[in-house]
Amino acid sequence: MTAAQRILRGHVLSFHGDPFAAPVEEVLTSIEDGAIAIEGGQIIAVGEACDIIGQGAAAPSDDHRGKFLMPGFVDTHVHYPQVDIIGAVNTGLADWLERYTFPAEMAFSVEDHARSAARFMLDRLMAGGVTTAAVYSTVHERAADIFFEESAKDDLLMVCGKVCMDRNAPDALLDTPQHAYDASKALIERWHGSGRAHYAVTPRFAITSTAEQLEAIGALWAEYPDLVMQTHLSEQRAEIETVLSLFPDAQDYLSVYERFGLVGPGAVFGHAIHLSQSERQRMQERGAAVAHCPTSNEFLSSGAFNLAATRADAPDLSIGLASDVGGGTSLSMFETMRGAYRAALRNGTQVTPLEMLYLATAGGAKVLGLGKKIGQVAPHRDADIIVLDPKATPDLARLTGVAEALEGILMALIMLGDDRAVSAVYVSGERVRAEAVQ
Ligand code: GUN
Ligand code: ZN
Repeated sequence: MTAAQRILRGHVLSFHGDPFAAPVEEVLTSIEDGAIAIEGGQIIAVGEACDIIGQGAAAPSDDHRGKFLMPGFVDTHVHYPQVDIIGAVNTGLADWLERYTFPAEMAFSVEDHARSAARFMLDRLMAGGVTTAAVYSTVHERAADIFFEESAKDDLLMVCGKVCMDRNAPDALLDTPQHAYDASKALIERWHGSGRAHYAVTPRFAITSTAEQLEAIGALWAEYPDLVMQTHLSEQRAEIETVLSLFPDAQDYLSVYERFGLVGPGAVFGHAIHLSQSERQRMQERGAAVAHCPTSNEFLSSGAFNLAATRADAPDLSIGLASDVGGGTSLSMFETMRGAYRAALRNGTQVTPLEMLYLATAGGAKVLGLGKKIGQVAPHRDADIIVLDPKATPDLARLTGVAEALEGILMALIMLGDDRAVSAVYVSGERVRAEAVQ
């Protein structure tokens, strides 16, 4: 081990495998008095504190004993222009898009407005322990620039893309197939791989893109196959009907995206609630992934994503958690995990605290194709680490005080946790400014 620049001490908790697929003891790293050595923004060693702290020249050590050291949370689907419309009362997806979402997105033609929303979103994500998110911008090219500029200020690994739409939205939000291709390509060249920025090709969904636009976007993605491609899929029944009427030759919703080469490794489909077994299996075969958006699905009355049934049909399909703000009601991953718990209950099943934490960390990183960079506290991973305090509030202190085993403490943390339980956030090994996360 080279000389560490910083050592974090606390209870290390991280998944190196999938707890849905293997016994927890085989996939969970849990080191009660553990330490993480960081150098050059990366984790260089993880182990028992006595081993790590004893090695090499003594580095300054941040003492978080009694707290959990975990990988930063990953939000696999969120709309940065929608921070101002959380909780907008609606009668369904189409009504919500028309009355609130599109007007809110139109305001992002003004750069100052976009910058203030980007800053707000990033600070609020970090406050809740989210260090990576897959973000939908608006149709405006500059709004994506601004989001990446603000992310770079904190050296955050953010995945973001300009939304592409050429029908069924107000004129001010429409581009064309050619413009979607050209502007997205310019953004890829400008941003993808610059610092920690990752570009995502982002057709909003099949209702707002013509076949010509989906074709242009499919061609673009084929030129940059390592990128994430993000869109929405089978969120509401009425949406499915509309898609099938717009693409009368399609056998089902997924086949619309298949036809344009938009289902493959790196494709992240938001919602994916009302899918057939065949659609789930085809997604799995092609290496696509699901962003499970529980609070949004509740708020917009979309249905409850059936995690257990999806896993039964397609055990290797990657699934992550997502806030989907502003359809979702909170940027907090704690609230999103609680939503995932409620969604499982609505389907007559349960998810364990360890499964929820996996989905919120390593599972989400895998969905975004970033499993080798983030999502784990392990050597050679970027040092995006959060410190969770199981005694942060009186309620938490009482409940975790009576919990006997680790799972009980983690369940208490998930059920009662919020930003106050995130006592520190490290991004690329640097502790995030306190003012940014309060
Ligand atoms: N489907 C198409 N666009 C959107 C959006 O912005 N939010 C949600 N929840 N669903 C969508
Ligand atoms: Zn969405």
